[in-house]
Amino acid sequence: MTALPLVPATEPVAADSPYRSYVYAYPHKSAYRPFAERPLLADLWRDEDVRALSLYLHIPFCEMRCGFCNLFTRSTPPAEQVAAYLDAFERQARTVAATLPDGTGFARAALGGGTPTYLEADELARVYDVLESAFGVDLTAVPMSVETSPATATADRLAVLRERGVTRISMGVQSFIDSEAHAAGRPQKRAEVDRALELIRAHTTADLNVDLIYGIDRQDERTWAYSLDTALEHAPEEVYLYPLYVRPLTGLGRRGRSWDDHRLGLYRQGRDHLRERGYEQVSMRMFRRADAPEAQGPEYCCQTDGMVGLGCGARSYTTTAHYSFDYAVGVGRVRSIIADYIDRDAADFAHAEVGFLLDDDERRRRHLLQSLLRAEGMDAADYASRFGSHPREDFPDLFAALDRRGWLAEDTVLTEEGLAHSDAVGPLFFSDRVNALMAEYEAR
Ligand SMILES: C[S@@+](CC[C@H](N)C(=O)[O-])C[C@H]1O[C@@H](n2cnc3c(N)ncnc32)[C@H](O)[C@@H]1O
Ligand code: SF4
Repeated sequence: MTALPLVPATEPVAADSPYRSYVYAYPHKSAYRPFAERPLLADLWRDEDVRALSLYLHIPFCEMRCGFCNLFTRSTPPAEQVAAYLDAFERQARTVAATLPDGTGFARAALGGGTPTYLEADELARVYDVLESAFGVDLTAVPMSVETSPATATADRLAVLRERGVTRISMGVQSFIDSEAHAAGRPQKRAEVDRALELIRAHTTADLNVDLIYGIDRQDERTWAYSLDTALEHAPEEVYLYPLYVRPLTGLGRRGRSWDDHRLGLYRQGRDHLRERGYEQVSMRMFRRADAPEAQGPEYCCQTDGMVGLGCGARSYTTTAHYSFDYAVGVGRVRSIIADYIDRDAADFAHAEVGFLLDDDERRRRHLLQSLLRAEGMDAADYASRFGSHPREDFPDLFAALDRRGWLAEDTVLTEEGLAHSDAVGPLFFSDRVNALMAEYEAR
């Protein structure tokens, strides 16, 4: 998956709404700020354990701009801009690789976006060549996940992905009913979706993930069951069920209690539907086919691992610093940030510019958020071995709040209802500092 950012809502979300914010990474980029003195990457990485990092490349291009989506991306860029972007990525990759300590190794890799398969087949091959030569890594030996979309999952691109050893392909479908996809602001054709799914299955042996969205206008139990069943015809190893979020600067705007109830009802239906058909729930959004071989290097197990992010819009994580480039959703700002990335020379990529420094308290919060929101819950012993305390000692009020709502089944495992309210549980654990930074962030 696929990672989905959050932009603070312009209208306040009701305090008891189950849909406050999707916490897929903490802190969110809207809490990042320019560093006063741009630190050298070499300094940030010097003392890190770099033996099993994640490598991520962000491709901020799509063949369409979906009304619901606030990821960092622009639609249909001119071909020269894509070529210039890849040139800049190559400069960045070589500079960043030179800043990493000896012994750097990668345990997993991903191409995300946007839509990485917006790139042509030869451009995708170039991306692999650059990553492999810059970082001295054989990507066929590393679990690698790639995001695609129905219109861009073509046979020639899939052939490149297969040759280069892709192990997971994730595609957004959202709905198998065109009128629903259109209602969510996605101009999609069902025939293209079917063709893409068949091609992925025919041309690769990668795990298939399908993203579906619930809470679309006029979506009901019957149409939701239809989309779920149609996805299951392809026996995807993973299914992600996303509640529709609508945020500033995207084309849609709906709020309110009845919509919350609509989404919660469809969530429960989707969860039960998948469970009854042999899927295990991994988190509020993620379901995995129980008979599928264990995922290799799953992206969700790396809460303490470092990540090297490349491309405009990617984040990088060391133990104490998260950094990225500037972030925006609005078309004009996205374009100027991409243009600025393309203009950089190699030396410009040796510094971190925008980011967030995590102290001990923030690292505890991050660890909690990334483990408590999983169906299996968090391992308090693991937390204790990292931080020397029990999470309840560190955050007694927050655990008491979860207890009061009846959202804890065990010490550090959410109940079904707790998991259903993951997007309300998560924000409880944000620090005051992160809340203040996010609140002052202006959606641009
Ligand atoms: C990078 S996209 C997937 C790949 C590809 N770009 C595509 O759209 O087919 C990430 C996924 O996040 C989900 N998503 C994005 N914005 C959302 C929103 N506002 N509400 C709910 N889900 C959203 C969608 O399911 C989408 O497929
Ligand atoms: S949902 Fe996918 S295709 Fe649509 S704008 Fe977002 S990243 Fe692009």
